[in-house]
Amino acid sequence: MLDSILKSIVDDNVLHAKWLNTLSYMENAGAKKISASEHKEHVNLIILKHAAEEHRHAYYLKKQISKLDEALCKTYTNAELLSPNHTKYYLHALDISVCRYLKSEFNLSGYDLKFAAYLFVTYAIEVRADELYPVYQAILVEAKSKVNVKSIILEEEGHLEEMINQLVGFSDDWENHAAEVIKIEKALFDNWVEALNAELLISA
Ligand SMILES: [Fe+2]
Ligand SMILES: [Fe+2]
Repeated sequence: MLDSILKSIVDDNVLHAKWLNTLSYMENAGAKKISASEHKEHVNLIILKHAAEEHRHAYYLKKQISKLDEALCKTYTNAELLSPNHTKYYLHALDISVCRYLKSEFNLSGYDLKFAAYLFVTYAIEVRADELYPVYQAILVEAKSKVNVKSIILEEEGHLEEMINQLVGFSDDWENHAAEVIKIEKALFDNWVEALNAELLISA
């Protein structure tokens, strides 16, 4: 379904601009979440790199919009996003559900819970990014679009590797917990795609 949704989005400049803006919004929200989960003092190079790159993705996607139409999607108001309510709910709900899961499994609180949530939420988002961006890029190539997200794909692959390295250090049993977190993410993502599809049907 995602494939056909993305094809109809890329075919329409206004929808495509909103799609880029929606991805930009999510990247920006992700970057802010990474920074918000930082320890007051124990901040390493990996965390700084990751936050910087997610901020760059938000900026880069926003910049791509001008290749379609300079006048479109200047800000992140609801009218400039696709399925704004579901888009905002996806990240928020993922965070809440994963925190609840980690709290009950590891009995964590305070900064430790924040850090564990950073590890697992970001991991799930990176797995998703590694699936979504290549599908989108292939459709861009096929449509001969001026937009491209190749530099993002490269960095997201690096992020996934970095998150796995950190998860290995966090728990010997990280893979089982990560599988549970992926299940939570998948349900929310499917919900989001469903909402996008419904919105496209209305606007068609
Ligand atoms: Fe990103
Ligand atoms: Fe990333």
